[in-house]
Amino acid sequence: MEKMKVGIIGCGNISTIYFNNCRTYGSLDIVACADLDIERAKEKAEEYDVKAYTVDELLSDKDIDIVLNLTIPSAHSEVALAALEAGKHVYTEKPLAVSLEEGKKVIGTANKKGLRVGGAPDTFLGGGIQTAIKLIQDGWIGRPVAANAFFMSSGMEEWHPNPDFFYQTGGGPMFDMGPYYLTALISLIGPVKRVTGSTSISFPERETPEGRKIPVEVPTHISGVLDFENGAVGTLVTSFDSWGNTLPRIEVYGEYGTLSIPDPNTFGGSVKYRRKGEKEFAEVPLTHGYRSNSRGIGLADMAKSILEEREHRANGNLTYHVLEIMHGFHLASSDGKHYQLTSSAARPPVLDMMEKF
Ligand SMILES: NC(=O)c1ccc[n+]([C@@H]2O[C@H](COP(=O)([O-])OP(=O)(O)OC[C@H]3O[C@@H](n4cnc5c(N)ncnc54)[C@H](O)[C@@H]3O)[C@@H](O)[C@H]2O)c1
Repeated sequence: MEKMKVGIIGCGNISTIYFNNCRTYGSLDIVACADLDIERAKEKAEEYDVKAYTVDELLSDKDIDIVLNLTIPSAHSEVALAALEAGKHVYTEKPLAVSLEEGKKVIGTANKKGLRVGGAPDTFLGGGIQTAIKLIQDGWIGRPVAANAFFMSSGMEEWHPNPDFFYQTGGGPMFDMGPYYLTALISLIGPVKRVTGSTSISFPERETPEGRKIPVEVPTHISGVLDFENGAVGTLVTSFDSWGNTLPRIEVYGEYGTLSIPDPNTFGGSVKYRRKGEKEFAEVPLTHGYRSNSRGIGLADMAKSILEEREHRANGNLTYHVLEIMHGFHLASSDGKHYQLTSSAARPPVLDMMEKF
Protein backbone atom coordinates (compact mmCIF):
# COMPACT_ATOMS: atom_id res chain seq x y z
CA MET A 1 0.00 0.00 0.00
CA GLU A 2 1.22 3.51 -0.81
CA LYS A 3 2.12 5.43 2.36
CA MET A 4 1.71 9.09 3.31
CA LYS A 5 4.55 10.73 5.23
CA VAL A 6 3.57 12.11 8.63
CA GLY A 7 5.32 14.59 10.95
CA ILE A 8 4.16 14.77 14.58
CA ILE A 9 4.02 18.14 16.37
CA GLY A 10 3.63 17.71 20.15
CA CYS A 11 5.60 14.90 21.79
CA GLY A 12 3.79 14.71 25.16
CA ASN A 13 1.74 12.07 26.92
CA ILE A 14 -0.53 10.93 24.11
CA SER A 15 2.20 10.83 21.45
CA THR A 16 3.48 7.39 22.61
CA ILE A 17 0.35 5.49 21.57
CA TYR A 18 0.29 7.32 18.21
CA PHE A 19 3.97 6.49 17.56
CA ASN A 20 3.32 2.83 18.43
CA ASN A 21 0.04 2.40 16.55
CA CYS A 22 0.83 4.41 13.43
CA ARG A 23 3.74 2.08 12.64
CA THR A 24 1.18 -0.72 12.26
CA TYR A 25 -1.03 1.11 9.72
CA GLY A 26 -0.09 0.45 6.09
CA SER A 27 -1.07 3.94 4.88
CA LEU A 28 1.20 5.82 7.32
CA ASP A 29 4.91 6.47 7.60
CA ILE A 30 5.94 8.61 10.61
CA VAL A 31 9.14 10.33 9.50
CA ALA A 32 9.74 13.20 11.96
CA CYS A 33 8.61 14.85 15.16
CA ALA A 34 8.83 18.30 16.76
CA ASP A 35 7.93 19.98 20.03
CA LEU A 36 8.36 23.41 21.63
CA ASP A 37 10.54 21.45 24.03
CA ILE A 38 13.21 20.16 21.63
CA GLU A 39 14.54 17.67 24.20
CA ARG A 40 11.16 15.92 24.18
CA ALA A 41 11.23 15.74 20.39
CA LYS A 42 14.78 14.34 20.45
CA GLU A 43 13.83 11.66 22.98
CA LYS A 44 10.89 10.44 20.89
CA ALA A 45 12.89 10.71 17.67
CA GLU A 46 15.59 8.47 19.08
CA GLU A 47 13.12 5.97 20.49
CA TYR A 48 11.15 5.67 17.23
CA ASP A 49 13.98 6.26 14.75
CA VAL A 50 12.57 9.39 13.11
CA LYS A 51 14.03 12.90 12.57
CA ALA A 52 13.90 15.43 15.44
CA TYR A 53 12.94 18.88 14.20
CA THR A 54 11.96 22.30 15.48
CA VAL A 55 8.37 23.13 14.49
CA ASP A 56 9.59 25.39 11.66
CA GLU A 57 11.95 22.74 10.32
CA LEU A 58 9.15 20.16 10.28
CA LEU A 59 6.79 22.53 8.47
CA SER A 60 9.41 23.29 5.81
CA ASP A 61 10.23 19.63 5.08
CA LYS A 62 8.71 19.18 1.60
CA ASP A 63 8.54 15.38 2.02
CA ILE A 64 5.98 15.58 4.82
CA ASP A 65 2.37 15.22 3.58
CA ILE A 66 0.43 15.30 6.87
CA VAL A 67 0.99 17.02 10.23
CA LEU A 68 -0.30 15.08 13.22
CA ASN A 69 -1.07 17.81 15.77
CA LEU A 70 -0.76 16.45 19.33
CA THR A 71 -0.25 19.77 21.09
CA ILE A 72 -2.43 21.08 23.93
CA PRO A 73 -5.96 22.36 23.04
CA SER A 74 -5.01 26.06 23.23
CA ALA A 75 -2.34 25.49 20.54
CA HIS A 76 -4.46 23.27 18.25
CA SER A 77 -5.72 25.93 15.82
CA GLU A 78 -2.41 27.83 15.63
CA VAL A 79 -0.47 24.65 14.78
CA ALA A 80 -3.18 23.43 12.36
CA LEU A 81 -3.20 26.76 10.51
CA ALA A 82 0.61 26.79 10.27
CA ALA A 83 0.53 23.25 8.82
CA LEU A 84 -2.12 24.21 6.25
CA GLU A 85 -0.22 27.38 5.31
CA ALA A 86 2.82 25.14 4.73
CA GLY A 87 0.70 23.10 2.27
CA LYS A 88 0.22 20.06 4.49
CA HIS A 89 -2.92 18.16 5.47
CA VAL A 90 -3.52 18.20 9.23
CA TYR A 91 -5.03 15.80 11.77
CA THR A 92 -5.54 17.25 15.27
CA GLU A 93 -6.20 15.72 18.69
CA LYS A 94 -9.53 16.80 20.20
CA PRO A 95 -10.95 19.41 20.25
CA LEU A 96 -10.53 20.96 16.79
CA ALA A 97 -9.96 24.37 18.44
CA VAL A 98 -10.98 26.22 21.59
CA SER A 99 -13.24 28.89 20.03
CA LEU A 100 -15.72 28.58 17.18
CA GLU A 101 -13.94 31.37 15.27
CA GLU A 102 -10.63 29.48 15.39
CA GLY A 103 -12.35 26.25 14.32
CA LYS A 104 -14.03 28.01 11.39
CA LYS A 105 -10.71 29.50 10.29
CA VAL A 106 -9.04 26.06 10.23
CA ILE A 107 -11.84 24.54 8.11
CA GLY A 108 -12.02 27.60 5.81
CA THR A 109 -8.25 27.63 5.22
CA ALA A 110 -8.21 23.90 4.40
CA ASN A 111 -11.11 24.28 1.96
CA LYS A 112 -9.43 27.25 0.26
CA LYS A 113 -6.19 25.33 -0.14
CA GLY A 114 -7.75 21.99 -1.12
CA LEU A 115 -6.19 20.25 1.92
CA ARG A 116 -7.71 17.80 4.40
CA VAL A 117 -8.52 18.46 8.07
CA GLY A 118 -9.13 15.49 10.30
CA GLY A 119 -9.38 15.08 14.02
CA ALA A 120 -9.85 12.95 17.07
CA PRO A 121 -11.64 11.18 18.49
CA ASP A 122 -11.44 8.10 16.31
CA THR A 123 -12.78 5.71 18.94
CA PHE A 124 -16.03 5.57 16.94
CA LEU A 125 -14.07 3.56 14.34
CA GLY A 126 -13.40 0.84 16.93
CA GLY A 127 -15.22 -2.50 16.98
CA GLY A 128 -17.64 -1.50 19.79
CA ILE A 129 -19.25 1.56 18.25
CA GLN A 130 -18.91 0.29 14.64
CA THR A 131 -20.98 -2.75 15.68
CA ALA A 132 -23.67 -0.50 17.16
CA ILE A 133 -23.70 1.70 14.03
CA LYS A 134 -24.05 -1.40 11.83
CA LEU A 135 -26.94 -2.73 13.94
CA ILE A 136 -28.76 0.60 13.64
CA GLN A 137 -28.10 0.81 9.90
CA ASP A 138 -29.28 -2.80 9.47
CA GLY A 139 -32.56 -1.88 11.20
CA TRP A 140 -32.26 -3.77 14.52
CA ILE A 141 -33.94 -0.99 16.53
CA GLY A 142 -35.85 0.67 13.68
CA ARG A 143 -35.84 4.47 13.65
CA PRO A 144 -33.78 5.85 16.58
CA VAL A 145 -36.09 8.04 18.66
CA ALA A 146 -33.93 8.98 21.66
CA ALA A 147 -30.55 8.55 23.33
CA ASN A 148 -28.93 9.10 26.71
CA ALA A 149 -25.22 9.52 27.33
CA PHE A 150 -23.34 10.13 30.57
CA PHE A 151 -19.80 11.00 31.56
CA MET A 152 -19.78 11.42 35.35
CA SER A 153 -16.52 11.80 37.27
CA SER A 154 -15.02 13.51 40.29
CA GLY A 155 -12.58 15.57 38.24
CA MET A 156 -8.92 15.27 37.34
CA GLU A 157 -7.01 16.72 40.32
CA GLU A 158 -6.85 13.43 42.20
CA TRP A 159 -4.66 11.71 39.61
CA HIS A 160 -3.38 14.18 37.00
CA PRO A 161 0.07 15.70 37.71
CA ASN A 162 -0.90 19.07 36.18
CA PRO A 163 -4.70 19.39 36.33
CA ASP A 164 -5.09 23.21 36.24
CA PHE A 165 -5.99 23.41 32.52
CA PHE A 166 -9.06 21.21 33.06
CA TYR A 167 -10.57 24.11 35.04
CA GLN A 168 -9.64 26.92 32.62
CA THR A 169 -11.15 28.12 29.31
CA GLY A 170 -11.11 25.26 26.82
CA GLY A 171 -11.29 22.75 29.70
CA GLY A 172 -14.21 21.41 31.75
CA PRO A 173 -15.79 17.99 31.26
CA MET A 174 -17.65 18.89 28.06
CA PHE A 175 -14.66 20.11 26.06
CA ASP A 176 -12.45 17.33 27.44
CA MET A 177 -14.78 14.32 27.21
CA GLY A 178 -17.74 15.59 25.15
CA PRO A 179 -16.00 14.95 21.79
CA TYR A 180 -16.00 11.16 22.43
CA TYR A 181 -19.70 11.08 23.25
CA LEU A 182 -20.87 13.55 20.61
CA THR A 183 -18.84 11.99 17.79
CA ALA A 184 -20.31 8.60 18.74
CA LEU A 185 -23.87 9.98 18.92
CA ILE A 186 -23.57 11.69 15.51
CA SER A 187 -22.15 8.50 13.97
CA LEU A 188 -24.99 6.47 15.49
CA ILE A 189 -27.94 8.82 14.95
CA GLY A 190 -26.89 11.69 12.66
CA PRO A 191 -26.28 15.43 12.89
CA VAL A 192 -27.88 17.78 15.41
CA LYS A 193 -30.06 20.79 14.61
CA ARG A 194 -30.40 22.50 17.99
CA VAL A 195 -29.33 22.10 21.61
CA THR A 196 -30.10 23.49 25.01
CA GLY A 197 -28.40 23.04 28.32
CA SER A 198 -27.78 24.10 31.89
CA THR A 199 -24.32 24.39 33.36
CA SER A 200 -22.89 25.01 36.79
CA ILE A 201 -19.64 25.59 38.62
CA SER A 202 -20.56 23.43 41.61
CA PHE A 203 -17.27 24.03 43.44
CA PRO A 204 -15.48 27.35 42.73
CA GLU A 205 -12.21 25.89 43.97
CA ARG A 206 -10.69 22.41 43.66
CA GLU A 207 -7.92 20.93 45.82
CA THR A 208 -5.10 18.60 44.78
CA PRO A 209 -4.12 15.70 47.09
CA GLU A 210 -1.13 17.87 48.19
CA GLY A 211 -3.54 20.63 49.26
CA ARG A 212 -2.86 23.05 46.37
CA LYS A 213 -5.98 25.06 45.46
CA ILE A 214 -7.12 25.40 41.83
CA PRO A 215 -9.60 28.17 40.94
CA VAL A 216 -12.43 26.96 38.67
CA GLU A 217 -13.14 29.25 35.69
CA VAL A 218 -15.44 27.02 33.62
CA PRO A 219 -18.60 24.96 34.26
CA THR A 220 -17.87 21.52 35.68
CA HIS A 221 -21.39 20.08 35.34
CA ILE A 222 -23.19 20.38 32.00
CA SER A 223 -26.61 18.85 31.29
CA GLY A 224 -27.27 19.09 27.57
CA VAL A 225 -30.28 18.25 25.41
CA LEU A 226 -29.89 17.56 21.69
CA ASP A 227 -32.47 17.67 18.92
CA PHE A 228 -31.12 15.56 16.06
CA GLU A 229 -31.99 16.52 12.47
CA ASN A 230 -33.93 13.24 12.11
CA GLY A 231 -36.19 14.06 15.08
CA ALA A 232 -34.51 11.93 17.76
CA VAL A 233 -33.95 13.64 21.14
CA GLY A 234 -30.79 13.05 23.13
CA THR A 235 -29.37 13.89 26.54
CA LEU A 236 -25.67 14.27 27.31
CA VAL A 237 -24.48 14.94 30.84
CA THR A 238 -20.77 15.54 31.48
CA SER A 239 -19.54 16.23 34.98
CA PHE A 240 -16.47 16.59 37.18
CA ASP A 241 -18.78 16.97 40.19
CA SER A 242 -19.90 13.45 41.06
CA TRP A 243 -18.37 11.03 43.59
CA GLY A 244 -19.85 8.00 41.87
CA ASN A 245 -22.68 6.88 39.64
CA THR A 246 -24.32 3.78 38.23
CA LEU A 247 -25.37 5.26 34.89
CA PRO A 248 -24.76 3.69 31.48
CA ARG A 249 -22.34 5.34 29.03
CA ILE A 250 -24.62 5.50 25.96
CA GLU A 251 -28.05 4.03 25.19
CA VAL A 252 -29.96 4.48 21.95
CA TYR A 253 -33.70 3.80 21.93
CA GLY A 254 -35.48 2.91 18.69
CA GLU A 255 -38.96 2.00 17.42
CA TYR A 256 -38.49 -1.69 18.24
CA GLY A 257 -35.48 -2.04 20.44
CA THR A 258 -32.76 -0.55 22.65
CA LEU A 259 -29.00 -0.68 22.22
CA SER A 260 -26.60 -0.37 25.13
CA ILE A 261 -23.34 0.97 23.75
CA PRO A 262 -19.86 0.78 25.28
CA ASP A 263 -17.72 3.64 26.64
CA PRO A 264 -16.93 5.86 23.61
CA ASN A 265 -13.49 6.58 25.09
CA THR A 266 -12.60 2.95 24.28
CA PHE A 267 -12.42 0.98 21.03
CA GLY A 268 -14.07 -2.28 22.12
CA GLY A 269 -16.51 -3.11 24.92
CA SER A 270 -19.80 -4.86 24.95
CA VAL A 271 -22.85 -4.05 22.83
CA LYS A 272 -26.18 -5.21 24.26
CA TYR A 273 -29.55 -5.37 22.58
CA ARG A 274 -33.09 -5.75 23.86
CA ARG A 275 -35.84 -6.17 21.32
CA LYS A 276 -39.44 -5.01 21.85
CA GLY A 277 -41.30 -7.78 23.71
CA GLU A 278 -38.17 -9.37 25.19
CA LYS A 279 -37.38 -9.20 28.92
CA GLU A 280 -33.58 -9.23 28.91
CA PHE A 281 -30.69 -7.60 27.14
CA ALA A 282 -28.51 -9.98 25.13
CA GLU A 283 -24.88 -9.37 24.20
CA VAL A 284 -24.25 -9.04 20.46
CA PRO A 285 -20.93 -10.36 19.10
CA LEU A 286 -18.84 -7.50 17.75
CA THR A 287 -18.97 -7.34 13.97
CA HIS A 288 -15.83 -5.22 13.49
CA GLY A 289 -12.15 -5.35 14.43
CA TYR A 290 -9.96 -2.65 16.04
CA ARG A 291 -11.26 -3.46 19.52
CA SER A 292 -8.19 -2.48 21.55
CA ASN A 293 -6.53 0.95 21.72
CA SER A 294 -6.28 1.84 18.01
CA ARG A 295 -5.70 5.61 18.34
CA GLY A 296 -4.49 6.82 14.97
CA ILE A 297 -6.99 4.75 12.95
CA GLY A 298 -8.77 8.01 12.01
CA LEU A 299 -5.48 9.36 10.65
CA ALA A 300 -4.84 6.08 8.80
CA ASP A 301 -8.32 6.35 7.25
CA MET A 302 -7.57 9.97 6.26
CA ALA A 303 -4.29 8.97 4.58
CA LYS A 304 -5.98 6.07 2.77
CA SER A 305 -8.86 8.28 1.67
CA ILE A 306 -6.49 10.92 0.25
CA LEU A 307 -4.86 8.19 -1.83
CA GLU A 308 -8.26 6.80 -2.86
CA GLU A 309 -9.74 10.28 -3.40
CA ARG A 310 -12.76 9.80 -1.09
CA GLU A 311 -13.94 11.65 2.05
CA HIS A 312 -12.36 10.51 5.31
CA ARG A 313 -14.47 9.57 8.31
CA ALA A 314 -12.93 11.55 11.21
CA ASN A 315 -13.19 14.70 9.12
CA GLY A 316 -13.11 18.45 9.76
CA ASN A 317 -16.88 18.94 9.31
CA LEU A 318 -17.52 16.36 12.01
CA THR A 319 -15.01 17.91 14.44
CA TYR A 320 -16.43 21.41 13.80
CA HIS A 321 -20.03 20.19 14.32
CA VAL A 322 -18.95 18.63 17.64
CA LEU A 323 -17.19 21.88 18.66
CA GLU A 324 -20.31 23.91 17.84
CA ILE A 325 -22.57 21.56 19.85
CA MET A 326 -20.28 21.85 22.90
CA HIS A 327 -20.32 25.65 22.68
CA GLY A 328 -24.07 25.50 22.06
CA PHE A 329 -24.74 23.82 25.45
CA HIS A 330 -22.78 26.56 27.24
CA LEU A 331 -24.33 29.41 25.20
CA ALA A 332 -27.87 28.03 25.71
CA SER A 333 -27.27 28.06 29.45
CA SER A 334 -25.84 31.59 29.59
CA ASP A 335 -28.43 33.03 27.16
CA GLY A 336 -31.39 31.13 28.61
CA LYS A 337 -32.59 29.80 25.22
CA HIS A 338 -32.04 27.01 22.65
CA TYR A 339 -28.97 27.30 20.42
CA GLN A 340 -29.57 26.59 16.70
CA LEU A 341 -26.63 24.83 15.04
CA THR A 342 -25.24 26.53 11.94
CA SER A 343 -23.17 23.46 10.98
CA SER A 344 -24.05 19.89 10.10
CA ALA A 345 -22.05 16.73 9.41
CA ALA A 346 -22.93 13.59 7.53
CA ARG A 347 -22.82 10.25 9.38
CA PRO A 348 -19.46 8.74 8.45
CA PRO A 349 -19.96 5.51 6.46
CA VAL A 350 -19.60 2.33 8.52
CA LEU A 351 -16.31 0.48 7.94
CA ASP A 352 -16.23 -2.74 5.94
CA MET A 353 -16.31 -5.57 8.47
CA MET A 354 -12.89 -6.84 7.34
CA GLU A 355 -11.39 -3.38 6.63
CA LYS A 356 -7.64 -3.12 7.28
CA PHE A 357 -5.65 0.09 7.58
N1 LIG B 1 -3.05 12.32 27.65
C1 LIG B 1 -4.14 11.67 27.33
O1 LIG B 1 -4.47 10.62 27.91
C2 LIG B 1 -4.99 12.13 26.19
C3 LIG B 1 -6.01 11.29 25.77
C4 LIG B 1 -6.77 11.66 24.69
C5 LIG B 1 -6.53 12.86 24.08
N2 LIG B 1 -5.57 13.71 24.50
C6 LIG B 1 -5.38 14.97 23.80
O2 LIG B 1 -4.08 15.00 23.23
C7 LIG B 1 -3.58 16.33 23.24
C8 LIG B 1 -2.25 16.36 23.94
O3 LIG B 1 -2.40 15.86 25.25
P1 LIG B 1 -1.17 15.33 26.10
O4 LIG B 1 -1.75 14.69 27.28
O5 LIG B 1 -0.24 14.58 25.24
O6 LIG B 1 -0.51 16.73 26.53
P2 LIG B 1 1.00 16.99 27.00
O7 LIG B 1 0.96 18.29 27.72
O8 LIG B 1 1.55 15.78 27.65
O9 LIG B 1 1.79 17.16 25.60
C9 LIG B 1 1.60 18.25 24.72
C10 LIG B 1 2.92 18.55 24.06
O10 LIG B 1 2.73 19.58 23.10
C11 LIG B 1 3.81 20.49 23.18
N3 LIG B 1 3.34 21.78 22.66
C12 LIG B 1 2.43 22.62 23.22
N4 LIG B 1 2.24 23.69 22.42
C13 LIG B 1 3.02 23.51 21.34
C14 LIG B 1 3.24 24.27 20.16
N5 LIG B 1 2.62 25.43 19.93
N6 LIG B 1 4.12 23.79 19.25
C15 LIG B 1 4.78 22.62 19.46
N7 LIG B 1 4.60 21.85 20.56
C16 LIG B 1 3.72 22.30 21.49
C17 LIG B 1 4.18 20.53 24.63
O11 LIG B 1 5.52 20.99 24.81
C18 LIG B 1 3.99 19.06 25.02
O12 LIG B 1 5.18 18.31 24.85
C19 LIG B 1 -4.66 17.19 23.91
O13 LIG B 1 -5.45 17.79 22.93
C20 LIG B 1 -5.50 16.18 24.69
O14 LIG B 1 -6.84 16.61 24.80
C21 LIG B 1 -4.78 13.35 25.54
